[in-house]
Amino acid sequence: MEFIRNCWYVIAWDHEIPHGGLFTRTVLGQPIVLLRTAAGEVIALEDRCPHRGAPLSKGRREGDAVRCGYHGIMIDAASGQCIEVPGMARAPDRLCVRRYPVAVQRHWVFVWMGDDAKADKALLPDNFSSAHPDYHYLPGYLHYDTSVDLICDNLLDFTHLSYVHEKTLGGSTAIALARPQIEPVVNGMPGLRVTRHVADVPPPPYYRRMRSFPGNVNRWFIYDFVLPGTLLMHSGGRPVEDAPGDESRTVRLHSCQSVTPETATTTHYFFQQALQGESDPQIVQGIFDSLITAFNEDRDMITAQARNLEREPGRALAPLHFDAALMQFRKLWAQALAAERNDSIPS
Ligand code: FES
Ligand SMILES: [Fe+2]
Repeated sequence: MEFIRNCWYVIAWDHEIPHGGLFTRTVLGQPIVLLRTAAGEVIALEDRCPHRGAPLSKGRREGDAVRCGYHGIMIDAASGQCIEVPGMARAPDRLCVRRYPVAVQRHWVFVWMGDDAKADKALLPDNFSSAHPDYHYLPGYLHYDTSVDLICDNLLDFTHLSYVHEKTLGGSTAIALARPQIEPVVNGMPGLRVTRHVADVPPPPYYRRMRSFPGNVNRWFIYDFVLPGTLLMHSGGRPVEDAPGDESRTVRLHSCQSVTPETATTTHYFFQQALQGESDPQIVQGIFDSLITAFNEDRDMITAQARNLEREPGRALAPLHFDAALMQFRKLWAQALAAERNDSIPS
C-alpha cells in the first residue's frame, strides 16, 4: 500500500510524550522517537542510530540530546547530528538522523512525513473541541491489525451505526435508511463533508447515560473527513417534542478522530468525543466508556473483514449506494498520491 507523505499525521496525544524521557511510535513503517526538550519543544527523530541501527528510544536522555543505549554515541535532538562518539575527539559529520517537522495543536502531536519544505501548519485539521472551554472530553487510542483504508471506509459510511452499534451509538435502523448528503470540503486538505439527518428516533443508548428523554429525538451527524484520514464531526439530538428555541435537553457533541498508518497492515486510531456544556466527570467518563465499547465493536468487525479479504484478495466486492462517500474518498486519496508522484519527477 502506498501512502501520501506530504501531509500531517497524528503520531501521539501530547500527554504521551514524557518530560525527560523518550517515546517511540512507528508511522508509515518508519520508527520515530519523540522527546520534549527542556524548553518544552516536541522533537521527532528517526528512531534508528546511524552507527549500527539500534533504536535510539532504547537509549537515554542527556539534556536535550539522546545517548544510544548500544555503544553510546550521542545525538543532538535539535539538529539530529551526532555530537559525541566515545573515544573520539570529534564526531564525524556523516553521523546524523533525520529530524521530522512536528506540529502540536490542541493536544494532538503531528509529524510531517514528506518534503520538509512543504510542511504547512495551515493544513492541520481543526480539532477545536480538544481545547475549548465549552467542551469536555477524554483522549482515546486504539491499535488496529488492519490497513488504514478499511477504517476510513467505516468512518465514511454511518449505515453501520444501525447494526454494528445497535446497542451503543446507534439504537435505530433509521440511521441506515437515511441517505447522507456528500459534498467536497473546500478549505485545507481535500476531503468530503457528509451530512445525515435522522428524524424521530429513540435516543441512542449512550445518550441515556447523560439524562433521561421523554420520547424520540431528531438526530444529526455532520462531519468532514479529510486526507490523510481525519474525521471532524458535529453530532447531536434534540427531543422531537421540545418547542422551537428550547435547547435545554439538546445534546451537542463534537468528535475528532484520526487514523495513522503504522505499517501497510497496521494502524493507529486516535479519538475523542467532546460534550458541549457538560462537565460532570462521571458523565464525561460514561460517554467515553460508551465510545470505547463502540470503537471495539468497529475494530472487531473491521478486523474480521480484513482477515476475510486477505484470504481472497482478488475476489470482487459488490458496491452499493452506501459506498458513495468511501469511493469518492478513495478517489481523492489516489489523486493526492498521483500529484505527489508527479511532484517528485525531476523536470
Ligand atoms: S548502534 Fe548506536 S552507538 Fe552503536
Ligand atoms: Fe463505528
